[in-house]
Amino acid sequence: MKKLVSTIVMVCAITLSASAADAVKATLHADQPGAKINREIYGQFSEHLGSCIYGGLWVGENSPIPNINGYRKDVFEALKALKIPVMRWPGGCFADDYHWMDGIGPKSQRPSLRNNNWGGTIEDNSFGTHEFLNLCEMLDCEPYISGNVGSGTVKEMAQWVEYMTSDGDTPMARLRRQNGREKAWKVKYFGIGNEAWGCGGNMTPQYYSDLFRKYNTYLRDQGSNKLYRIASGASDYDYDWTQVLMENIGNRMQGISLHYYTCSGWDGSKGSATKFDTDQYYWALGKCLEIEDVIKKHKAIMDEKDPKNTIGLLVDEWGTWWDEEPGTIAGHLYQQNALRDAFVAALSLNVFHRHTDRVKMANIAQVVNVLQSMILTDQEGTGHMVLTPTYHVFEMYTPFQEATYLPIDIDSEIIQVSKAYFKEKEGAKDAGYRPCPLLSASAARTKDGSVVLSLTNVSLDQDKTIDIQLNGLNAKTVSGRILTSKNVADFNDFQHPSVVAPKDFKDAKLKKDILTVKVPAKSIIVLNVK
Ligand code: AHR
Repeated sequence: MKKLVSTIVMVCAITLSASAADAVKATLHADQPGAKINREIYGQFSEHLGSCIYGGLWVGENSPIPNINGYRKDVFEALKALKIPVMRWPGGCFADDYHWMDGIGPKSQRPSLRNNNWGGTIEDNSFGTHEFLNLCEMLDCEPYISGNVGSGTVKEMAQWVEYMTSDGDTPMARLRRQNGREKAWKVKYFGIGNEAWGCGGNMTPQYYSDLFRKYNTYLRDQGSNKLYRIASGASDYDYDWTQVLMENIGNRMQGISLHYYTCSGWDGSKGSATKFDTDQYYWALGKCLEIEDVIKKHKAIMDEKDPKNTIGLLVDEWGTWWDEEPGTIAGHLYQQNALRDAFVAALSLNVFHRHTDRVKMANIAQVVNVLQSMILTDQEGTGHMVLTPTYHVFEMYTPFQEATYLPIDIDSEIIQVSKAYFKEKEGAKDAGYRPCPLLSASAARTKDGSVVLSLTNVSLDQDKTIDIQLNGLNAKTVSGRILTSKNVADFNDFQHPSVVAPKDFKDAKLKKDILTVKVPAKSIIVLNVK
């Protein structure tokens, strides 16, 4: 971290609220419960990209790396602890180049393909439909299949649905049985294309909505398996895309996706995951928080066209996108993950909690070794694995799954952060500012009646004491954990796997209906209050 003092002055164009020394006031409204937080907000995304599948989730039965029927054992066990509700596969951009029939049957007979989107790597199709759906069963999570509209056919997609979900005496069910799987799998979530405006076919919203209607016609529900049909939705600020799909597809879809990355741009360098200055640190938090405004605007369009709220907004790709780690294969999107990424995870999840009425699912990109991953495995195949700071946020936040949202107000200082990540980029000086509160909170009532409460202090140097007025909660005990580190650029690697890891937290005290918490700078605290 460089230039701390001078840069803070530069980014803090406007500062609101009390001085750093005062206790911050907050109010938890446990007496005003909101909606249930959809557990699918804790979804994951696994693409045939770099080492997400091969070397990440899957090493094959004959690997010297310990595995369970080919699935990497250490990775599998770490993921199990996250209680993953849903996993998206096989892409991403890869999905629109993927022909599912190449990934079934005897492995020695499966054809290879060139992964055109991601570094031209040769894909041997050894991980296919069976391998993915069986993994979902082992993880006890819902599969979310992304179908190929870009280069596939209607027949191919319809047959895939039949292959996976038909229990009848149908041609595709017979083929599945021949390949060793008697019973149909349960597949609920089905995406009809991905990024149809880009790698999924470079279409207009009008053309894509017509294609959606056509493909959708032939995706027949098999027996009791009911598909939740997801349209390939907008990128970031493309509200017109949502508008057209809502008009032309309407309630033929149950969900519409949204992709939003904390990324400085699509051309040139995106910045290092672990070497950044103060401006770049706050930039990431401001950019990540802007997702709330983006969600509100897409929601407003959906509310108008779907006032009964029957169509979900699914943020099925989100997270940080930095430069690839030096020395790794170009196009494999292998990036490190610092405490800064943990803040992006916590703040984004807090936003999804607040919009759980419409945001029915979110899938961080991606689960292993790609972009803002939960887990990194050694790229040399030595068998090492490390849990990222983002993993720890997902693990600490598991009590939020299916809990009932509780409003919490917090009187936070707000800094205005520059929209420009690279000051030297053309026009950057006029780029404007985004608000970034230093303190954020989220709360929910879990099934056992206790309250899960997360508090995040992204300030680089100001410890804060927060007095939380507990309305409607007669609390007797508090316990929790904290995720913090000396520097926001700290990360875990194979030699130092526990630099950023949760620890027990003792600085929370209850006195009548006030909970006082000392929240150090650069920390995320998750408490259980009951
Ligand atoms: O997650 C990486 C890529 O980002 C996905 O393949 C694509 O859908 C998006 O552009």
